[in-house]
Amino acid sequence: MTSVSTSNTSASGKTAAERYGVLPRPELEWNAQVERETAHLYELVKEHIPAIEWPVYAPYVHAINKLKKERNAAILAHNYQTPDIFHCVADIVGDSLQLAKEATKVDADIIVQCGVHFMAETSKLLNPDKTVLIPDMKAGCSLAESITGADVRLLRERYPGVPIVTYVNTSADVKAESDICCTSSNAVAVVESFGVDRVLCIPDEFLAQNVAAQTKVKILTWKGHCEVHERFTAEELLAYREADPEIQIIAHPECPPSVVEIADYAGSTSGMINYVRDQRPPKVLLVTECSMASNIESSAPGVQFIKPCNLCPHMKRITLPKILDSLLEMKDEIHVDPSTADRARQAVERMVNLKQ
Ligand code: 13P
Ligand code: SF4
Repeated sequence: MTSVSTSNTSASGKTAAERYGVLPRPELEWNAQVERETAHLYELVKEHIPAIEWPVYAPYVHAINKLKKERNAAILAHNYQTPDIFHCVADIVGDSLQLAKEATKVDADIIVQCGVHFMAETSKLLNPDKTVLIPDMKAGCSLAESITGADVRLLRERYPGVPIVTYVNTSADVKAESDICCTSSNAVAVVESFGVDRVLCIPDEFLAQNVAAQTKVKILTWKGHCEVHERFTAEELLAYREADPEIQIIAHPECPPSVVEIADYAGSTSGMINYVRDQRPPKVLLVTECSMASNIESSAPGVQFIKPCNLCPHMKRITLPKILDSLLEMKDEIHVDPSTADRARQAVERMVNLKQ
């Protein structure tokens, strides 16, 4: 996370807490008003949160929703956030890039990013005038941490003239050293957009190998892996299919190529959600983080979800109590050094503007 400024202050020299003020902690009581005003939200999560536990969640949900109006804040939640966050306090949900793009359209001064650090940084890049907060600064990502800006400069020296395509799951420092960004949905089109025969596609080795299987362009890569998706194996998935041939297998392209090869569909988290909503397979095996299936089950009635899932420990650092603290105390603010931000933003915008 080298692009995070070591100071907590913005260009004004003041911290977010100084600019907006710290608010007193509300009473977190389970009472008739809280019960009444959160009842419609409980309906959305009742399959995942037992009724006996709701009195613990509801006061936080109630306080956060009140506070975000007072602060004129928008809560962005990635598809891997837990159902209480995804359904009960988020204003925008989606995959990593969608969140940053949607945030440019909301009329909010403050963005609270419920996801991991690189996502908050990407939101800051595309929303430089907004205050971007992350409820836990330690929410990292094994892919983003596999490579630094200095590594990319070395790659450029070693492969002069070879375009560098960087997955959005990277720090702003790494994006700033790259020619263009890609997501798991558009990586093939981005790689082919250069019209050359060799491209560096970093840092996800498996995503790069999955791209290489779909293009004639020679792909050079890096040894970064997602610690959640690298653990799935073709053998375990084939055992499910053998047990029930009706099962459709849907995988994230961060999985090893042997897994993606046997999948009926591979795409970004939003691509996977759209596939399930549009195709309505009777039984679907989601090869990705655990919360995805829980979050989309209610919008795909009639689909039976099989969940051989792995938890992302970084995503799970974000909790309702930390979101409340973030809004009360205006922490932790994301800063990106302005010259790094300009170059990183260009790499993201080149991808967004690419005609596909
Ligand atoms: P998406 O961009 O597909 O949401 O992926 C983000 C991520 O962290 C997957 O592991
Ligand atoms: Fe990073 Fe993998 Fe977690 Fe996504 S699921 S944030 S790629 S470690």
